[in-house]
This record gives sequence, structure tokens and C-alpha cells, in this order.
Amino acid sequence: MKRSKLAVLMSLLLMAMMILAACGGGDDTPTDGDASTGDDAAMTEDDGAMTEDDGAATEDDGAATEDDGAMSGDKQVITVASGAVGAELELAQNAAAMFEEMHPDVEIRLLDSPDLADDRLGLYLQYFETQSSEVDVYQIDTIWPGDLAEHLIDLGPALEEYGETYNISRDDFFPAMVENNTVDGALVALPWFTDAGLLYYRTDLMEKYGYDAPPATWDELTEMAQTIQDGEREEGNQDFSGYVWQGNAYEGLTCDALEWIASFGGGTIVSPEGVITINNDNAVAALETAAGWVGTISPDGVVGMAEEDARSIWQAGNAAFMRNWPYAYSLGNADDSAVAGLFDVSPLPAGPGGSPAAALGGWQLAVSKYSQNPDLASEVAVFLAGPEVQKMRAIDGSLNPTIEALYEDADVLEANPFFGSLFDVFANAVARPSTATAPNYAETSRIFFTNVHEVLTGDTDAQTAVENIELDLEDLTGFEVGQP
Ligand code: GLC
Repeated sequence: MKRSKLAVLMSLLLMAMMILAACGGGDDTPTDGDASTGDDAAMTEDDGAMTEDDGAATEDDGAATEDDGAMSGDKQVITVASGAVGAELELAQNAAAMFEEMHPDVEIRLLDSPDLADDRLGLYLQYFETQSSEVDVYQIDTIWPGDLAEHLIDLGPALEEYGETYNISRDDFFPAMVENNTVDGALVALPWFTDAGLLYYRTDLMEKYGYDAPPATWDELTEMAQTIQDGEREEGNQDFSGYVWQGNAYEGLTCDALEWIASFGGGTIVSPEGVITINNDNAVAALETAAGWVGTISPDGVVGMAEEDARSIWQAGNAAFMRNWPYAYSLGNADDSAVAGLFDVSPLPAGPGGSPAAALGGWQLAVSKYSQNPDLASEVAVFLAGPEVQKMRAIDGSLNPTIEALYEDADVLEANPFFGSLFDVFANAVARPSTATAPNYAETSRIFFTNVHEVLTGDTDAQTAVENIELDLEDLTGFEVGQP
């Protein structure tokens, strides 16, 4: 096939994917009644932002042609592939408007991307593999720098050049994040916001059922969730669940399961030194514990749930506990939330003899090697990663800054007291083994979550699962096997 025809076909495919993503069709939906009802609630809430933004992202962005990506009338156009989980797209839109106000000759177009990290990576890879100039700036997951580095430019020089204008320098970011985003000496992405898994709990229900503190261990959580669930159902709310979390077979499950395993003292799948440690008794015990929640304190459909599914059940007032990222804090306290003012967050519980573990997540801004305007794209990335935008997103969206000083900013702390009280959770979050396994992290994670998912659905037992993961990882990476 001729290259031009191929390019047109690819563009059509990408447009179809974008439309699907905007309609929510790109996401896996949960499998039980509770969850799908909840999912609808989240969609409706977000629809306002989506519809508004669609015009910018899909209709007039020239996605079908290759060359007009850089100019529209007299304006230079920079396209940013942005996350759309919760209020992210709206927050990105606000930040883009700030830049456009300073630079009337620039138009920033936002391309909303699928909620599930795996789907988003699939979409990005299609752009990268065709060396498409359609997208200039990509919002990339904290686990992707190693896998995607070959398609990204070094932002070190741009940070030097534009840092003064936008009040940001390399040293302002948490050093570990800069290190995470540095591949072969190149800073391939600027840290934009960071994430750590948190336990959301209902303060009103804690009081109602006579508990004076959130659960410190998974056993306590199981007991409390069961008691509250039984009580609420007896009072007539059959949709009520004790605990909701991310059990779908995708990257989110890798995060949740890493937390269970690490909190049981079972290690991090592959150690930072590149040893495969997953096959151990604590990891098995952790997976057995989590499998025991499915259909008891968690709905059967939890094995189809992602972040937004859990959040919508939680926000409708139908769960006692939820595992989620910080973004759910500000949305949970919004006017349309049934739990506004009725919840707080704490560290996730610990396993027997272990200590709490929060998975380290977060998103970065990277500039594509295939951008037609890498200089302006880099300037946009530096601005977006700067303190003005990070502060706005922290206050309006409870997205954790990657700039250390913002954790001492009074306005940020007033909007999110837990940024201060749980600072250690963020500082000590447990990284997924993306650096040790790069460029094979995505496959490492897929092997892990697929097997864990089978344990949750009862298709396999935990011991067999960790043995399978170990074998597949040996094949994939050639690493040694050992204990955590
Ligand atoms: C959040 C995290 C990201 C993680 C994803 C999994 O978006 O920030 O790092 O991969 O959740 O669902």
C-alpha cells in the first residue's frame, strides 16, 4: 500500500478511536449492575467538559491531514494529548487558556485520551509508530519514560531556556521524579502531577458503627467493611458495598496488587536490582486475602472496575471504603457528590507483620520527536509543569504537585489538608518495576495483572499465579529469580 493511503487510513483509525474514547467506549465497563449504574453517574458528570472539549479535540483539529498540525490561520497550533480522568481535561483546558492569554498567536488543542492507562498507551504507540506529528505534547504515565524514550526529545535544554520565564528549574521537582524521567542522560519528560494509592473512608459511617479510627490492617478493614455493609443493607440500601477498588485486568490492578503484596512484605514483583521476587509466601497470602473480598465486602463486579467505576459508587454514597488516587478527593467534596464533607483519607492498611504501601503513580509531560514545532511544544510543556499551573490543578483538582515547595503553600494545603498530613505516604510510595524492566515494563505489568486477575475471578489459585508470573517474567527479561 502507498504511504499516503496508509497515512489516511491510520488517521481515520485514530479519529475513530478518539471518538470512541470521548464516548467512553474505549474503556472496559464493569460487569455487574451496581457498577454500571455507578459508571453512568460518572459519565454524566463529566460529559459537560467532554462535549465542550470535543470541538477542540476532534472536530476542527485537522486530525485527518498531516500537514496543518502546526498552523491554523495565523496561529501556531500545539496539540496536547491529555488525560481525561475525573476533571483532568477541564483542568488542562484551563491551563491551556492561561498560556494562550500570554501568547495570543498560539492555540493549544487538547486531545482527550482513554481513561485506562493501557488503552492510552495503545493510542500513543499508534502515533509514535507512524511517526505522526499530530500530537506535540503527550501526558505520559510515570511508568512509561523507559518504554517511550526513543520517541521523546530531551527537555533539559528547554527547561534551561524557559525555566526563568515560567519560574521553574530542575531542582524544584522531587529529585526521584527527575531521576525516573531521565533515560540515558536525557530528561524525556517533566513531572506534572504525582499519585499514591490512598484509603478513602466514610467518617459518618465510622461514627455510626462505633469505630474511632480508620483500619490499620487489612484484617481490620475486612471486618469493618463487612459490619458496615451488613448494617447498611439491613437498613435497605442493597447497593451498598464495604470496599471498592480497581480489579479490572489493566494497569490499575497492577497498582492495587502491588500495594497488597508490598504491604504483606512480599516485595515489588521485580526488585530495583532486577531480580524476580514475586514467587514468595507473603505475595501468595496477599493475593488470597484480596481474592476473599470479591463477592463478600466488594461487589462481584469489582473485577471489572477501574478508578472511575469505584469513584462513582463511592460518590453516590454506596461504599464504606475505597482505594483510589488523590484526584477523587476534590471530586468527592464537590457540590454534586453525596459524600461531600463525609469522608477522609488515610494510608492504606498493612498486611500481617508488614507496613502500609502506596503505589507510586503520576503523570509527566513529554514532547514528541515527531512534532513539527518541538521548540514551542517544549515551551508549552515547561509552562504546564511550572508552579502556576501546578498550584491551580492542586487547588481545583487535588492533583498532587511534583514541585516540593507547593506542599508548603497555604492555599494548596487549605484545599487539601492531606497533602500535609499524609506527606510521608507520597514521599515513600512504592514504585512499580518500570525502570528495572524497561523497555519491557508494559509487558511485565500485563503478565502480572492478567495472572492476578485470574486469582480474583477464581480461575486460578494464588500459588499457581505467582509461579506463572515468575516463569513468564524469566522468559521476558532473562532476570534471576530470588526472594524480596
Ligand atoms: C493513575 C496513576 C498512574 C497509573 C494509573 C493506573 O493514573 O497516576 O501512574 O498507571 O492510575 O490506573
